[in-house]
Amino acid sequence: MKSIIVHGGAWDIPDDMLGDHRNGVSSALSAGWDILTNGGSALDAVQAAINKMEDDPTFDAGRGSFVNMAGQIELDASIMDGRTMRAGAVAAVRNILHPITLARAVMDKSEHVLLVSDGAMRFAREQDIPFCGADDLLVGREFERWKEIQTRPAYSGREAFAGSTNPGDTVGCVALDDQGNVASGTSTGGTPNKYPGRVGDSPIIGCGTYAVNSVGGVSTTGWGEAIIKVVLAKSIIDAIDMLKMTPEDAAQHGISILHSRVEGYGGVIVLTKKGKFGIAFNTPRMARAYMSDEISEPVVTV
Ligand code: GLY
Repeated sequence: MKSIIVHGGAWDIPDDMLGDHRNGVSSALSAGWDILTNGGSALDAVQAAINKMEDDPTFDAGRGSFVNMAGQIELDASIMDGRTMRAGAVAAVRNILHPITLARAVMDKSEHVLLVSDGAMRFAREQDIPFCGADDLLVGREFERWKEIQTRPAYSGREAFAGSTNPGDTVGCVALDDQGNVASGTSTGGTPNKYPGRVGDSPIIGCGTYAVNSVGGVSTTGWGEAIIKVVLAKSIIDAIDMLKMTPEDAAQHGISILHSRVEGYGGVIVLTKKGKFGIAFNTPRMARAYMSDEISEPVVTV
């Protein structure tokens, strides 16, 4: 049984960006699905799908990411292998187009789970992970947003996510391969105008990403400060495992906790060990796509 689900962020995606989001999640899904159908692993499928969205300037991940208060782009990512429960993550890395690839290297080639900033970049050099120029990550849309924010007397991440209308284009993927292995990953540029060194939920295992073969996997998107406080990804896995919720109900349960306990906004994708999907969000829209052996065509929705 093979299944894969991707997301490209939950927010009030404007009408004129719907096509780009649809195309972006669709092409990421295809990249991951191709790997699964050729006998590849869930981990490789997750990495390939996320690499596609990191390349795509539509999303707040890799190229196209938000700019921080200091005018830099700092990226976070994590990946988890549900078979072994190994995990790798990086935070606040600069000049790397594919932070999920670096997170995978942390998982595969170090004894650690999370490396940050200069240490993560030193590890990237040791592992021959390609570096790029800052201009390769920056797009005009985000430079304009950053300039506009600098004209405001005050602006905070809470302002960016406390309402449902602000951008949150974090990307993620969960996959199940024919061997019954689940993997999950998430990649992001974080929040607009974030404080330098700020780290959100995406690289925190249990918050942005979680996978365990006996249950399934989750990737989240939304306001990281809120998501961290409710340990969102692991809370959803626990709801399936211990409360015996369906993936749909567990996804909704996670978003309800996020909103009722910490006034958070965001979205989640869930995939169980049996290849069943759950999706929930409390923003006007969320870009997502999924495919499995049980359906004839990919489902792509924004
Ligand atoms: N969920 C992405 C972030 O807050 O960094």
